[in-house]
Amino acid sequence: MKARPIVLKLGGSVITHKDVPLSANESAIERLAEEIAEAKVPQLIIVHGGGSFGHPLAKKYSIKEGFNGKFSQLLGFSETHQAMITLNNMILKALIHCNIPALTIAPSSTIVSKSGRMVARIDDHLKNLLRLGLVPLLYGDAVLDSDKGFTILSGDQLVAAAAIQLNAERIIIGVEGDGLFKTDPKLGRGDLIRTCTLQQLKELGKQTRKTTAHDVTGGMQGKIAELVPAVEKGITVAIVNACKPQRV
Ligand SMILES: Nc1ncnc2c1ncn2[C@@H]1O[C@H](COP(=O)(O)OP(=O)(O)OP(=O)(O)O)[C@@H](O)[C@H]1O
Ligand SMILES: [Mg+2]
Repeated sequence: MKARPIVLKLGGSVITHKDVPLSANESAIERLAEEIAEAKVPQLIIVHGGGSFGHPLAKKYSIKEGFNGKFSQLLGFSETHQAMITLNNMILKALIHCNIPALTIAPSSTIVSKSGRMVARIDDHLKNLLRLGLVPLLYGDAVLDSDKGFTILSGDQLVAAAAIQLNAERIIIGVEGDGLFKTDPKLGRGDLIRTCTLQQLKELGKQTRKTTAHDVTGGMQGKIAELVPAVEKGITVAIVNACKPQRV
């Protein structure tokens, strides 16, 4: 491959109204699709989060915790996945509308995790799409798990796995805030961290609160935990405010 790919995460906190179940932020989706088209990145992989589509259902049915043997939870697994493909279709439609040849790879049909961790490689498939000039589109999803029956595979884990497996040039994480802060910006005016080293990122991961109310995959703490191995491989990560035009 010519250029090293860039992996872009469109946070669920941007593409949906995270506190209103099943509510997409259509104007943000359309704007981001336009900006991605303008950027003309030669090798791009896009991953989007669950936002108010995936997280509330995953929480309601305890999907991340694994299969409890009950039929009602199986239905919940289907429903969580259905919500995700609904959101995915909106993103895909917006990308195609902007002449971006995106192609969805549904994690639920291609990835089996082991105790919540992605073990298989997906780089061959991604490379085949990139070679053709397609833009692979993945998302955090309800997936089968060899130990737990099923679980939730976060978009953040997918971003890091894809970037590491493909030796990406860079990861760009689009979130609703201005980036990474010393403390959760929702709790008051925290200090924005403009740059940080791997060691500082690890320290921040320990200090950051575990989960936000609407996120079953650890919110910012989960994100940092997933990004550390990518940074260890020398991949630069930028966390940017994707709610503001032109930042991504
Ligand atoms: N130290 C921190 N710096 C920045 N944001 C933080 C921090 N601690 C907590 N947060 C919160 O993390 C949230 C972003 O992470 P979250 O997982 O909720 O969004 P997302 O990853 O975009 O959504 P999804 O998981 O649906 O893709 C922000 O809303 C912010 O309030
Ligand atoms: Mg999240």
